[in-house]
Amino acid sequence: MRTVTTLLVLILLLVTAVARADMTPADPELLAKYRPPQVAAGQVDPREDHEIKLGKALFFDPILSGTSARSCASCHNPALSWGDGLPRAVADDSSSMKLRAPTLLDINQLPRLGWTGKFRDIEAVTFAAISSSGNMNLSETEALSRIAQIPGYVAAFKDVFPGQGVSRSTVEQAIAAFERTIVSGTAPFDRWVAGDSQAISPSAQQGFALFNGKAHCASCHSGWAFTDGSFHDIGTAKGDDIGRGALFPTSGKLRYAFKTPTLRDVAHRAPYMHDGSIPDLRGVLALYNEGGIDRPSRSELIRPLGLSEQDQLDLIAFLNTLTETPHPVAIPVLPR
Ligand code: HEC
Ligand code: HEC
Repeated sequence: MRTVTTLLVLILLLVTAVARADMTPADPELLAKYRPPQVAAGQVDPREDHEIKLGKALFFDPILSGTSARSCASCHNPALSWGDGLPRAVADDSSSMKLRAPTLLDINQLPRLGWTGKFRDIEAVTFAAISSSGNMNLSETEALSRIAQIPGYVAAFKDVFPGQGVSRSTVEQAIAAFERTIVSGTAPFDRWVAGDSQAISPSAQQGFALFNGKAHCASCHSGWAFTDGSFHDIGTAKGDDIGRGALFPTSGKLRYAFKTPTLRDVAHRAPYMHDGSIPDLRGVLALYNEGGIDRPSRSELIRPLGLSEQDQLDLIAFLNTLTETPHPVAIPVLPR
């Protein structure tokens, strides 16, 4: 009897294994949605190159914070996938911010910036970060005057912005030019989309099918950048942490809505969500499988999913294929 049971179990395992390995290849139309955006090849404008270099120096320069201890890179650290690895960012005065520092990867794809979309473009974020007392805590006047006292910066601004010099607008333009270069590289998933059938495991391929099918993840984490750039309540936030609802108090749907974050490189960015409340990807999958807090503002797509343990592992295997090969970012020599 025992031998028969063992045999049956073995046959069952074999059948499942064959079924999993023998999956139908993903639909070419679906894969086309995940191809990288075409970048126009052309001559690199040397002025633009200098502007990016200047913006990078400013981004890494701690003189832009009140105590001169924190730069933009303290919270958007390239070694931590342009986040800071903390549940909530720590401001210049060591207090904890209400929000987790989001990654800056592929922000050039986003129509609005910030977890609640309160920034209309990349430029608009810079002085909000510098002059907010709950962040870098340095007034605009003081920030501009600190930059203008450094001969290396004065020369660089003269070169990149002739006749304009150091101003709020030129600082914003230079930092934004650098931020727009923060784009994700090629991940195993991209090699698979490009035709290398061995680039990701059968489990990850199954995860990709679930991501686009039963689990509905792709409805919001859509396309190459894995975000629709829009705002949804996925049943996470509580109390007065009402997200985009604070900007649109009359909208029931935007209550507790936050921006869909990119999933590129996501395995490197724990803890997760706008408030860093979920420590790992297992926890994220558990949240989606249970459906989060059931309330009128919650997206219709968020509901108990009935994913098996294996489904969840497959989805995680897929998310792990979005991690690109790390390429170290050189810390710039700061003008002085
Ligand atoms: C103390 C930590 C901290 C520092 C320093 C900091 N940021 Fe941020 N950054 C954050 C947090 C937290 C958010 C989310 C803010 C929000 O959603 O309202 C954010 C959001 C952003 C965003 C929007 C990203 C997105 O996905 O929407 C950009 C761009 C950005 N910061 C750029 C900068 C620049 C440029 C500097 C330096 C001038 C800087 N940050 C300094 C913590 C920080
Ligand atoms: C209705 C739109 C929607 C759907 C469907 C959806 N997400 Fe999300 N996802 C979001 C939003 C919005 C957030 C940010 C919520 C927050 O910060 O509180 C998020 C956050 C995440 C995060 C955390 C990322 C980070 O950097 O913090 C992961 C991982 C994630 N989703 C994966 C998935 C997976 C896997 C699925 C499918 C099971 C899925 N999402 C389905 C909108 C969605």
